[in-house]
Parts: sequence; C-alpha cells; structure tokens
Amino acid sequence: MRAGVAEVLPAPVAPLDLAAAVERVARKQRGLAPRAVGKLFAFIACKGGSGATFLATSLGFQLAEAKTVLLVDLNLQFGDALSFVHDARPASTLADVARDIGRLDASFLAASTVRVAPNFSILAAPDDHTQALDITPSQVEAVLALAVLHYDFVLLDVGRAIDTLSIKALDHASTIFVVMQAGLPSIRNAKKMLAIFKSLDYGADKIELIVNRFDKKGTIGVANIERALGKFKLHTVPNSYKQVTASIDHGDPLMTTARANPVSRNLADFARVLSPRPAVGRSLFERLLGRGAAGPRLSSHTTEERHVVP
Ligand SMILES: Nc1ncnc2c1ncn2[C@@H]1O[C@H](COP(=O)(O)OP(=O)(O)OP(=O)(O)O)[C@@H](O)[C@H]1O
Ligand SMILES: [Mg+2]
Repeated sequence: MRAGVAEVLPAPVAPLDLAAAVERVARKQRGLAPRAVGKLFAFIACKGGSGATFLATSLGFQLAEAKTVLLVDLNLQFGDALSFVHDARPASTLADVARDIGRLDASFLAASTVRVAPNFSILAAPDDHTQALDITPSQVEAVLALAVLHYDFVLLDVGRAIDTLSIKALDHASTIFVVMQAGLPSIRNAKKMLAIFKSLDYGADKIELIVNRFDKKGTIGVANIERALGKFKLHTVPNSYKQVTASIDHGDPLMTTARANPVSRNLADFARVLSPRPAVGRSLFERLLGRGAAGPRLSSHTTEERHVVP
C-alpha cells in the first residue's frame, strides 16, 4: 500500500472487474467520488417473436426517464432493436466498434451509438450478417465492461442464440429475463433454455420470467407455468396487439404514443421495480408501511412471484 498499490484483484481477474478497478482508481486520482457499476440486464426470447426486443426497447425508454441507459443489440444476425424506436439507419454498429476495438473508450462507445432519447442510446447490431461473424466474445466482453462503467443500465437484446458469444454476455448479466408467452411451444422452449442455464451454473436468482401477451382468462395460467418450469420470479405483460404493432411499425415508442395503454402502464411499473426511485414526500405513516405515492402497484400472489398489475 505504501508503494502506491490502490487495488488488489484476485487472479484470474475478469475483464469487467479489471475495468471497474481501473475506473475506480482513475476517478480517485481525479478526486471524483466512486461511481456505482451499472446493472446489466439480458433479454432472451425462448421462441421467435416472443417480444424480447419490444420489451427491452420499451423498458429502455422507461428506465431512461430517471437513469442513463444503453441497449446493446446482440442479436447479431437479425438484430432490429433500433428500428423499433428510430427510423434512420445507424452510422455505426457493434461491428464497427469491434473492428476498431483498440480505440475503445467511453467517447468512442458513445459516438458509435444512436441516441433515441436524452438518456437512452442504442448500439445497433450490424446491418450486414457477414460482419457479425467477425465479432468475438472478448470484443463483446470489452464493450460491456466499459458500458457498465458509464451507464446506469445496460440492456442486452440477446435474440435467441445461445452460443459462445451470447454466453459470455449472459455470464456477466445480473439478471436474465427469459421472454415467453403462455403457450405450450413457448413453455417447452423455456424449459430447455432453463436447463441450459442450469448447466451453465446460473442460479435461479439470476433468472426471471416475463410472460408477454398474457391473457388472465387464457387456458394456461401462472400456476401452470410455475408447475412446468419451477419457481422463478415471474412478471406478466398484457396483450395489446393493435397499439404495440402500430408503435413498432412507426418506430415510435409505445410509452410516448400511448401512455395510458395497459402495456405502457405495466412496463412503467416494471421499470420502477427495476429502478426504484428514492421516495420523496412520503409521510412517516406511509414510510412505516413501506408505501408511497410514487411506489409501483404490485400484487404478490406468492412469495416468489412478482406480478405487475396492469
Ligand atoms: N405485449 C404485446 N402485446 C401485443 N403484441 C406484442 C406484445 N409484445 C410484442 N408484440 C408483438 O410481437 C411481435 C414480436 O415482438 P419482438 O420482435 O419484440 O419479438 P422478439 O422476441 O424480439 O422476436 P425475434 O425472435 O424476431 O427477435 C411484435 O412485432 C409485436 O407485434
Ligand atoms: Mg428480437
């Protein structure tokens, strides 16, 4: 310590831990307070068209109302996250960042993204699928290591591929949101996906299920899903085909075009669970009861399950 050692890290050191330590030392030397490392949330669809991209981009907008958010489109071959909320082509994509990885720093990363809202940027997937093949897991890891140091939330649209590249990203995620629907094919795929996650040693606390387009009156309910998949934190998002599809087709986020839509309200509540805002102006009575005007409207059906009430 007397020789000037500021941090000691156990070997082998993970790139994300190393990057965080370098950032801590750099901030200390500049007299700045340490910054919390951002949360890394991965969205993976257990079946094509489950809604992973829609949910990741929509939650990005919601979280960005109070925090800084970067969405990285890791669906390298079919990534379309940017087009859900923006109608122009990106000047730069993840493939350009990977090709020039030696230049990677916070300003290069920010310059490679498209800012879709004041606090929300997207690093788009490559336009050309052949470029996707050149992106390596360690390049993705370096991008994520830097991203969590500069954004409060880093959201990953993982698509559906579970390969060495997506596993590298999933390893570092604090939470993996498995996006599914309440149908048998989706449940079957979710079961396979959860088995893969188990074999990768991901704990149950790292995984949450999102049952998208959920119809409370449908034949498959939450209890059936839990019976088939086991107990995980589970969120339901209602179905609103017309307005959701119109918002995607126009590249306008649902929460700006249809704030009162049940899906928008559900996702606003969900975002408040993911990023609780400091309670201000609550009475002592409300604080003692743990509620307040700004709190999300949650009803818990079981101790494990969190339902966001639409
Ligand atoms: N809550 C919802 N209510 C109604 N329709 C929805 C909802 N969420 C998604 N959709 C519809 O499902 C379609 C597929 O969604 P999305 O592209 O986000 O799925 P994905 O899991 O990312 O699929 P892919 O496998 O193509 O990446 C959307 O175009 C939209 O029409
Ligand atoms: Mg998608």
